[in-house]
Amino acid sequence: MRLHHVGIAVEDLEAAKARYLLLGFRVEAEGEVAAQGVRVAMLRGEGEARLELLAPLGPETPVGRFLAKRGPGLHHLAFATLDLEGALAALRAAGARLVDKTPRPGFGGHRVAFLHPSFAQGVLWELVEA
Ligand code: CO
Repeated sequence: MRLHHVGIAVEDLEAAKARYLLLGFRVEAEGEVAAQGVRVAMLRGEGEARLELLAPLGPETPVGRFLAKRGPGLHHLAFATLDLEGALAALRAAGARLVDKTPRPGFGGHRVAFLHPSFAQGVLWELVEA
């Protein structure tokens, strides 16, 4: 597996984008994941590095609740796999608590699944089929 992106929860997407553009990142894609109540800007730097800025569409959304509880900052790490079901099965067998027992549609047309942060010392993991 390789690191696919780092997810960052933000209050103001435009302000957050401006900060990373200073570092030379560019907007690779931007849009909404309505089912998750989130607006996403996927930024790309040199090489494979991507940052996923996540701004909630309302307070009663997963990212809205995250911001209310913890404030803006690191939200998740996403890892790319070619075999999402296989990776989920292997992690489940290793004792991982899955947030998503089956893949769901994520940003950019990728199938994704989240694992509970209790499995990774407090870090939310996302698996991306890519
Ligand atoms: Co993500």
